[in-house]
Amino acid sequence: MSEHGGNIIEVAQQYGLPAKELIDFSANINPLGAPERVNALIKNNLSCIEKYPDVEYRHLHQAIAKAHQCNCTSVMAGNGATELIYAVARYLKPKRALLLIPGFAEYRRALQQVGAEIIDYPLTEDTGFQPDLHLLDTLSNIRPDCVFIATPNNPTGLMPDRQFMQVLVEYCEAQGISLIIDEAFIDFLPNNRGVIPQFIAAQHLYVLRSLTKFFAIPGLRLGYLISGNTAGITEMKKQREPWSINAFAALIGEILLDDHTYIAATHQWLRSQQHYLWTHLSAFPELTVWPPSANFLFFRCNKPDIDLWHSLLKHRLLIRHCQNYAGLDKRYYRIAVRSERENQRLIAAMQQVFAHG
Ligand SMILES: Cc1ncc(COP(=O)(O)O)c(C=O)c1O
Repeated sequence: MSEHGGNIIEVAQQYGLPAKELIDFSANINPLGAPERVNALIKNNLSCIEKYPDVEYRHLHQAIAKAHQCNCTSVMAGNGATELIYAVARYLKPKRALLLIPGFAEYRRALQQVGAEIIDYPLTEDTGFQPDLHLLDTLSNIRPDCVFIATPNNPTGLMPDRQFMQVLVEYCEAQGISLIIDEAFIDFLPNNRGVIPQFIAAQHLYVLRSLTKFFAIPGLRLGYLISGNTAGITEMKKQREPWSINAFAALIGEILLDDHTYIAATHQWLRSQQHYLWTHLSAFPELTVWPPSANFLFFRCNKPDIDLWHSLLKHRLLIRHCQNYAGLDKRYYRIAVRSERENQRLIAAMQQVFAHG
């Protein structure tokens, strides 16, 4: 079984279900679909197939740098944020790394590939699954070479407060600890621009961004990395395999960050549908739900006799169980916020499951 959500084909095959009929609440992709301009741009540029993309991705890097008001030398685009997680790990070659758990699985795989000793830092329910100043004590005791943190975190959907993030960046900067902040979902938060504006010059900070979720292009794949360590960015560009971003992804990356109509429509959809799911899920006495910040919700089912994943699959709804996340178990689940109709269908199915088992 894949470690990630979105494995519709695998589940459909395993359970003998038609993949087309499954509604995928397990991958956190914007249900508005790719912006219209993406389809038009691809149709009008089909001849890209016949040429190698610019191996330096100059126009793409310029567009990203413009959006973040920084220099191109601070930017490296990648084939999704995933490629860049591996690129950073390969560049840093940490001897010892700290991972906050539960968290995204690829940090661990990337660190294992470079032979790092990995120390887990559990985020627990007592502290609301949020990191706090205790993390700084741990950093000072353990002295890792690097630490990964996702803001908001996956799968909990929780966003640490700004002040904490500022203290963390300043601490790591002062101590020379490489801090990788994964902001793959931050575009879904309308009033949070993350740490880039304040810390664009920081030498030990690496900020990851993904365009695949917000702009609904997981099949095209695009992400980027921003760091004030421009020598490090140059080195990572040298180390990478050439042409890892396909020509279409590179082309649309030049226009996505400027698509303010799509960005506003997404925030409007999310405001209403995140609220809908939050209020309806929280109303189930069988569930404990954590307040969402992005386009997914995290909850625990407190009825041990109910296997929500299998029960909802019978309704053709695929949700993400979280039992393979370090630090969690089979009581925990994550669901994506989808369209109004689909979200209503999920809530109706859950009402049936809780009423009849
Ligand atoms: C926290 C986090 N970071 C990064 C990624 C990878 O994103 P991409 O599709 O851009 O490779 C994911 C994908 O689920 C994620 O959850």
